[in-house]
Amino acid sequence: MAKKVFIKSYGCQMNVYDSARMADVLGEDGYARIDDPEDADLVILNTCHIREKAAEKVYSELGRLRSLKARGTRIAVAGCVAQAEGDEIMRRSPYVDLVVGPQSYHRLPAMLAASDEGNRRSAIETEFPVESKFDFLPPVKADGPSAFLTIQEGCDKFCAFCVVPYTRGSEFSRPGATVLEEARLLVEGGVREITLLGQNVNAYHGTEGGLAALIRALAAIDGVERLRYTTSHPRDMDDALIAAHGEVPELMPYLHLPVQSGSDAILARMNRQHRAEDYLRIVERLRAARPDLALSSDFIVGHPGETEADFADTLALIEAVGYAQAYSFKYSARPGTPAADAEDTVPEDEKSARLQRLQALVNDQQLAFNRASLGTTTEILFDRRGKHENQVAGRSPYMQSVHVDCADAAEAARMFGQTASVLISGAHANSLTGQLEAHPHNNQVKELQGA
Ligand code: SAH
Ligand code: SF4
Ligand code: F3S
Repeated sequence: MAKKVFIKSYGCQMNVYDSARMADVLGEDGYARIDDPEDADLVILNTCHIREKAAEKVYSELGRLRSLKARGTRIAVAGCVAQAEGDEIMRRSPYVDLVVGPQSYHRLPAMLAASDEGNRRSAIETEFPVESKFDFLPPVKADGPSAFLTIQEGCDKFCAFCVVPYTRGSEFSRPGATVLEEARLLVEGGVREITLLGQNVNAYHGTEGGLAALIRALAAIDGVERLRYTTSHPRDMDDALIAAHGEVPELMPYLHLPVQSGSDAILARMNRQHRAEDYLRIVERLRAARPDLALSSDFIVGHPGETEADFADTLALIEAVGYAQAYSFKYSARPGTPAADAEDTVPEDEKSARLQRLQALVNDQQLAFNRASLGTTTEILFDRRGKHENQVAGRSPYMQSVHVDCADAAEAARMFGQTASVLISGAHANSLTGQLEAHPHNNQVKELQGA
């Protein structure tokens, strides 16, 4: 009987990708991935260290999982908390069997074998290995019409507040040829949309011409309908990449370009290496290249030294850009980062108040952006079943979630994995609703599906 593994991902999309790849590695070792930890022989928590709350979640989840040990379930901690505090995990939760960092999970089968033999010394793998895990992973398995593809790892930017350069190590770009090969496998498996991932994805240099050249090569693969990339740093938004936004139709008109703050003083303290004005100029040039481009960003409120005037500058930048979406966080001091040495000057309740003000503004912008879709006909890639019977759900080019009621369950099932024109008839804060257009393209989809 096949062994079963349950993997839970926290944190960013790179962890989602890594979890899928861990499942691929373990698949070769006879494990099937399942959705319920209760039935698992092996439970893996793929963790995130970005904020204190994220890291603490791991210990409470481990506490809950402890009862599974009685049945012989093995428990492993992977990801960025594993990397940052592996020894502490073993100390605080001695029932954890394995700790494996984000660059070492190709070694999981060997670690499991050692653990079978009762060898505790191999229970922690958090050195950054000299080999690249990508050279040891089995061929990727497609799962659904939309896929992540990690092309770059690590970060050399060292923003003052951030743990990523320590948990993921220094920048590494996968060679272009292996990226193209993985993309071809995904497309053969039914994938139509690929999101290229990296902590600093636009610093990609695994092929001559950087990310822009890679995007053009990927767009040329038959069957690649949509391309996206995330997360980018404003400093690496070069001319070639901006031009690609205007010239590559497969590249979706939506870009996550985090700015963190609109205050030059805070940007300097954050070591972001650009001013607010530089960011606004980049946005201007992107929109010149691709007028329908929509943007999203991350913001940190209450970074050490942030005054009310600095915060007002952030709100002003948000007004100036007009976002389709944004993620915002209260500053959380992280051990080992330069910002953690500075006094955490903004009181917690002030951080909460600023966060609320910022989110109110961003929510207004998001709703306005969604409302502007009303009455438009938009290409939706259906990548999930809807919540209701006969419903299918997907994404617009702008990453909006769109729910569509189909005539019957058979139609809903047919639409899954397809791209089709949808007339948008409802706009909410976080999603849209619409109807399938009686469009030649859609009818053709139905015929092809043998309906
Ligand atoms: N590489 C990406 C960010 C990855 S972390 C980039 O450069 O934009 C995702 C987001 O978490 C960051 O953009 C930032 O907004 C937030 N974040 C990172 N460290 C944080 C901290 N110490 N406290 C609060 N938010 C943080
Ligand atoms: Fe962290 Fe800055 Fe690197 Fe992003 S660019 S991962 S925020 S250090
Ligand atoms: Fe978190 Fe690590 Fe991603 S700290 S955000 S899981 S790179």
